[in-house]
Amino acid sequence: MFAKSRIECPQLRKKIMSAEEAVSFIHDKQTVGMSGFTGAGYPKSIPAALVEKAKSLRVSNQPFRINLWTGASTAPELDGVLAAIDGINMRLPYQSDPVCRQQINDGLMDYVDIHLSEVSQNAWSGFLGKLDIAVIEVAAIHADGRIIPSSSVGNNKTWVEQADMVILEVNDQQSVKLEGMHDIYYGTALAPNRKPILLTSPSDRIGEKYLSIPIEKIVAVVETSAPDRNSAFNPPDQISNQIADHILDFFSHEIKKGRLPKELLPIQSGVGNIPNAVLSGLEQGGYKNLTAYTEVIQDGMLGMLKSGSLSVVSATAFSLSPQALDEFNENIDFYRDKIILRQQDISNHPEIARRLGIIAMNGLIEADIYGNVNSTHIMGSRIMNGIGGSGDFARNGYLSIFMTPSICKNGAISAIVPMVSHVDHTEHDVKVIVTEQGLADLRGLSPRQRAKVVIEKCAHPLFKDRLYDYFDRACASKRGMHTPHILNEALSWHHNFETNGQM
Ligand code: COA
Repeated sequence: MFAKSRIECPQLRKKIMSAEEAVSFIHDKQTVGMSGFTGAGYPKSIPAALVEKAKSLRVSNQPFRINLWTGASTAPELDGVLAAIDGINMRLPYQSDPVCRQQINDGLMDYVDIHLSEVSQNAWSGFLGKLDIAVIEVAAIHADGRIIPSSSVGNNKTWVEQADMVILEVNDQQSVKLEGMHDIYYGTALAPNRKPILLTSPSDRIGEKYLSIPIEKIVAVVETSAPDRNSAFNPPDQISNQIADHILDFFSHEIKKGRLPKELLPIQSGVGNIPNAVLSGLEQGGYKNLTAYTEVIQDGMLGMLKSGSLSVVSATAFSLSPQALDEFNENIDFYRDKIILRQQDISNHPEIARRLGIIAMNGLIEADIYGNVNSTHIMGSRIMNGIGGSGDFARNGYLSIFMTPSICKNGAISAIVPMVSHVDHTEHDVKVIVTEQGLADLRGLSPRQRAKVVIEKCAHPLFKDRLYDYFDRACASKRGMHTPHILNEALSWHHNFETNGQM
């Protein structure tokens, strides 16, 4: 059933074993660095084998919980199954799984939410502790040991370098034609030994096509045959299209003003329905030869590559629906020279984001009238997903655009509030806020000027008068000052929701 030819290296063929045998290398309380970024390139069989191992150990009252590091979020077959048996002690650097989220918010799992560009330097600097073992999905292994990476790169390079041991999963559902799409950069170092990263365009290749792993570190090779799992996107709804229209108008305005070239600047786009609507708006708007320097390659980008709207996409992972994945695999020869997959410390690197002048477009949970953005916590306390790469791009890019519907939960919650209940992106990093109501361009404005623009352009009519009332009273109070607030009222909207179910 398995294509044995995918493991051509004779030394590694000797290490082929089942997932059940391979998990004998993983012990209670160990730290495991797994591949995986969004639903792409995560190990498909070791997590389930770990679940079985934990269950059987627990029958004889022996504990089994691991610390789990990945590239970013993964899939129910990794985060979901391990969280469901309370098998994760500590998780980093990003997750979006409902079971995992519940465990974190119940205080049963520690979660360290890190800027994705920083994970590898934190690991190298020793801030995260020791990495015992890496479990990495790959597409194939050549006879001379060269390893073709899988559908995501994420932190794989760092994990295999840092871990004492490596388990490889060779997945025959990943196309061998991914060979040549990766660009693994081996020039990083810790300060003070760093050199400039010589990447000046999203299409530049600065590294190797293969993932290097010292062969003696590889203790097990497991063959798998399972597809990546990424959910399908809904067609853009009216709100997403309205948000996209505001952004497209803004781009046209910036081109007219000479502040953006007609090919824009490299785009970074979060995943989801709103970013997908923006991408399709760009394509329909006749843009040509755009580039993307982003984290994930999503459905809309394939169509844009086909139509010439996009010329190249640099990312660290795919995040394709099953239909888009089929289309990609059928036409992979067309896409090969237009897609580059890099490790996440390069795809999200601050130096590169600043040099390229990235246009960053990400979602938010709430924004306040002064332009601070909360991307991660519901009502100040409950984690949703994590900061991901949004901070890498927002602070270092040329334009940081944050987008959201202006209300949620049928109007019980306003996305624009007097004061955010948690801050991920400060007023200094947020250039533009967009809702379906309109777009607030905050560049060059003082706090009081920003408040007027945010309320006028972005707030839903249900909440606009109350926001103006709050702002006017805050300005009039003796404590008004530079960023006017009424402290005992600033978070009262959240308190109202927690007590009455309505802000
Ligand atoms: N208060 C309470 N709940 C809120 C809320 C608010 N202000 N805003 C949104 N929500 C809820 C929604 O109701 C929804 O709940 P549900 O799942 O029960 O329906 C949930 O949060 C998600 O909201 P949605 O509007 O579907 O958001 P999304 O899928 O566009 O994601 C973020 C928005 C902010 C959660 C997401 O973009 C994210 O995780 N961002 C951080 C990381 C990031 O930016 N990554 C990309 C760049 S690398």
